Amino acid sequence: MIQFNNLNQEIPYQLFKEKYDEAVDAGQKGIEAISISSYNKEKDEVDSRYVNLKFISNDEFIFFSNYNSPKASSFNSHSQIAALVYWPSINVQIRMKAEIKKTSNDYNQKYFFDRSEEKNALAISSKQSKSIDSYGQVKENYNKSLKNDDLKKCPEYWGGFSFTPYHFEFWEGHESRINKREIFEKIDCVWEQSFLQP
Ligand SMILES: Cc1cc2nc3c(=O)[nH]c(=O)nc-3n(C[C@H](O)[C@H](O)[C@H](O)COP(=O)(O)O)c2cc1C
Repeated sequence: MIQFNNLNQEIPYQLFKEKYDEAVDAGQKGIEAISISSYNKEKDEVDSRYVNLKFISNDEFIFFSNYNSPKASSFNSHSQIAALVYWPSINVQIRMKAEIKKTSNDYNQKYFFDRSEEKNALAISSKQSKSIDSYGQVKENYNKSLKNDDLKKCPEYWGGFSFTPYHFEFWEGHESRINKREIFEKIDCVWEQSFLQP
């Protein structure tokens, strides 16, 4: 589930919440999964991966990850991302474009402190996306961390990423095939609304 905190009153945020509530009511599984696409300027390469969206706080979408991971390097080299959700239970796709940044160390420490020690041991012990000899080695590193590390202290290589979309597209599939595509683009601090042909 996504936690909404003091949600921004502007239309695209309210529409996001409205569609989210509809998907929850329709029993949508994995509703917090969001695909994040990034561009790594040094490698001249585009990549995508799912993450779990944890919070929408006012106008910030927040997820957590490893700050030494390939995604973090991409965000560092080029801060623009595209984010994507699809909720099949209501046949709605939401596309977003945004700049991404890290959340503060204070924020990360607080969030980490409240998480389970099991989750934290994995965050501490995993050098995310680095190659390793075997899956057994992953488990061994995890068990070592569970026994030996301070599981309430967030390491500097782990924390949140936050993005504030400047572009939303709400796509609603209809049985008639006359699908609805509604765009919100922030221009000079004002959301301009338009429709696209399906
Ligand atoms: C549904 C789903 C949710 C995921 N949530 C996260 C997440 O919140 N944070 C994270 O670091 N990885 C998450 N992952 C794993 C990422 O997709 C990815 O494998 C990992 O972050 C490494 O990505 P990178 O090599 O591009 O940095 C999730 C995977 C799936 C399928």
